[in-house]
Amino acid sequence: MKILLTGGAGYIGSHTLIELVKAGHNVVVVDNFVNSQPEALRRVAKIIGHEVPFVEADIRDKEAMERLFTEYQFDAVINFAGLKAVGESVAKPLEYYENNMNGVFVLVDAMRRHGCKSIIFSSSATVYGDPAIIPITEDCPKGQCTNPYGWTKSMLEQVLMDVQKADPTWNVVLLRYFNPIGAHESGLIGENPNGIPNNLMPYITQTAVGIRKELGVFGDDYPTHDGTGVRDYIHVVDLARGHVAALKAIAENKGLAIYNLGTGHGYSVLDVVKAFENVNGLKVPYAIKPRRPGDIATCYCNPAKAKAELGWEAQFGIEEMCRDSWRFQKNNPNGYEL
Ligand code: NAD
Ligand code: UD1
Repeated sequence: MKILLTGGAGYIGSHTLIELVKAGHNVVVVDNFVNSQPEALRRVAKIIGHEVPFVEADIRDKEAMERLFTEYQFDAVINFAGLKAVGESVAKPLEYYENNMNGVFVLVDAMRRHGCKSIIFSSSATVYGDPAIIPITEDCPKGQCTNPYGWTKSMLEQVLMDVQKADPTWNVVLLRYFNPIGAHESGLIGENPNGIPNNLMPYITQTAVGIRKELGVFGDDYPTHDGTGVRDYIHVVDLARGHVAALKAIAENKGLAIYNLGTGHGYSVLDVVKAFENVNGLKVPYAIKPRRPGDIATCYCNPAKAKAELGWEAQFGIEEMCRDSWRFQKNNPNGYEL
């Protein structure tokens, strides 16, 4: 298929780009580098052996989107472009709502005017709020988000569902990611957060490499096996392959389709720390800290629907996730800065 990959220079986008090209798709990337570097795309080119057509643009830029859809006849769009830092979204709600929502409005408007009516959207387990069912299935009711970032995901799901309802010739695939970690096995691309990481794995790798003194473990009094929060960590390459698999829902004209992308296994914060230490032969100093506001105890999915309908399931375990996260950090102590 001919695919427009927005946000393709980012963490999940760059890994997905590789898997799409490997599967034989024709991909054009658009990104404005608000949270990524051109170096990521150079490294992808090194991995796949050639460059991929790239347009530097903001997806909110109507003229740029018009030019893009006039130049290429896309079969589908995979939309990764969006801001994703939870804490920053609390401090800058308008910027988050404006970028994430308006980005999709402009993109989807260009799509419909050019007859490209298939989109895969990056959603998140955050839309389940404090989940009503564990393991979480796709029919678990959506919940209250605890931050503007989460609300942009929840609301954009609704927007896309309404677009599909108004015109059933649309294919809308909502992928709800659980907790992506890990990196490409080459060690060339991986997660490269700006500033102090919010998420667990980058904090662990930055502590292991000496950038941070110790990991703060946010709460040890949750109702979990060791008191620390339990999540469904998924290798980013598995997640990337989930997008290739999701194109099947488009090829089959499924209309609206929603899938959880996770492994179905829950690991606590301390499980992850131990797995990371064991597989990499390192120590990660940590200290127990108070709970982080907005956090929930347990979140993991039932990934059976994606397996049954898309033939996709995660292949990598927590060891590979920890090994590959560390390889990228060790090889790139300053991220993509050369
Ligand atoms: P990322 O920040 O690494 O990638 C997002 C990319 O989009 C970046 O390259 C950024 O420069 C670009 N971008 C942002 N706004 C843009 C705009 N207006 N125009 C053009 N480009 C723009 O994030 P990621 O971790 O790769 O996440 C990709 C998507 O998946 C995001 O929508 C994110 O919200 C969603 N998601 C991520 C996670 C996670 O844990 N990483 C979990 C659930 C959902
Ligand atoms: C967070 C976001 C969620 C987003 C997801 C993936 C919140 C409330 N939710 O989810 O919207 O989709 O990231 O980007 O922020 N932890 C520590 N110490 C740390 C960091 C994390 O103990 O320094 C713990 C957390 O308390 C949690 C687990 O590690 O139990 C995972 O945290 P994190 O990686 O931030 O992901 P989520 O909280 O699941």
